[in-house]
Amino acid sequence: MKKHIGILTAGGDSPGLNAAIRGIGKTALKGGDIQIVGFRDGFRGLMENRTMRLDYDVLASILTQGGTILGTSRDKPHKMPVGNEVMDMTQVICENYKRHNLDALICIGGGGTQKNAYRLSQQGLNILTLPKTIDNDVGMTDVTFGFHTAMEIATEAIDRLHSTAHSHHRIIVVEIMGHNAGWLALGAGVAGGADVILIPEIPYDPIKVAQAIRERQQRGTNFSIVAVAEGALSVDEHATVSRLKEQKIKAKEAEDSKAAKKASEQLKEFTRALHNNTLKLTNQLEELTGLESRLTILGHLQRGGTPSAADRVLATRLGSACVEYFKQGVSGAMIAVRGEKSEPVPLEDVIGKRYTVPLDHEWISAARNVNTCFGD
Ligand code: F6P
Repeated sequence: MKKHIGILTAGGDSPGLNAAIRGIGKTALKGGDIQIVGFRDGFRGLMENRTMRLDYDVLASILTQGGTILGTSRDKPHKMPVGNEVMDMTQVICENYKRHNLDALICIGGGGTQKNAYRLSQQGLNILTLPKTIDNDVGMTDVTFGFHTAMEIATEAIDRLHSTAHSHHRIIVVEIMGHNAGWLALGAGVAGGADVILIPEIPYDPIKVAQAIRERQQRGTNFSIVAVAEGALSVDEHATVSRLKEQKIKAKEAEDSKAAKKASEQLKEFTRALHNNTLKLTNQLEELTGLESRLTILGHLQRGGTPSAADRVLATRLGSACVEYFKQGVSGAMIAVRGEKSEPVPLEDVIGKRYTVPLDHEWISAARNVNTCFGD
């Protein structure tokens, strides 16, 4: 009897997704006793039963392609927009899993996808996951695929910004992706020799950032590169966010749903207002230093295009390992990276464990040693 495996990609796309699909697909098809089917656009495609044939011909040409041939979405099984409503479509998804006679569903995604996958495994589905995101913020794995490519792209951008900042004697603030974790801004900032690196894990004081830039000026260097993670917060903003989060937790503990809702709305409103934060910082630095300042937002450039060699290897390894673990009967697990090996980690141990930059991480201490300012 042939076994059947379904594959979907969910959340923001990231380089290496196609390499992972190919790794899973080719490993599965090799022995001739496993059939695979792709579901389009994440959990939505599984709910709507929109599939894609994944045979050797399809798999043969995708290793180097960016994005995901399956398409992706951020739709969640239990909160799916359907028409004008948001509905819990978990049962429909379970029925489609059965309709395809699946023995396992492999969900490739970041932190949100791991949570959604865990919920489905609690419904009795056999779920395996792979960790991907350019943010590198999934818990219980050394690294996620997509991160390396995005770090290369952001580093190249910083390299290019250096020469124009230098020529015009300007400050260039470069916004790098990462709402909750600063891995990308930190890695690219260190690799690109940014003079200032601001990450969500270290609240910054704009005055201290300006001071570091002025000290460079006094040493005769009239330009600076400031690498900022999109989720970096000033000390004041961080204090407000922490206060609102605490209020929300306390209200929930006291089962005061009205107060919890209010704190949650205030938090959302405050976070929304932070969207222009890097522009605000750029203007502040111009005012504080007297140096002309410009902002570059790298945005989705960081996620597009062909994966780096490192991400192709990582995604191929994880995809292939995932099928091997399936054959051994592993279920309800994320296939995590452990050095040069992989290891299945129960999904319940993965969820809710966002991997942020530890403050004692060597990337931070090394950056400080080469005079990088973190604004603290
Ligand atoms: O989760 C990865 C990520 O690229 C984040 O770094 C970024 O904040 C977010 O996705 C952007 O999401 P979207 O593609 O939905 O704009």
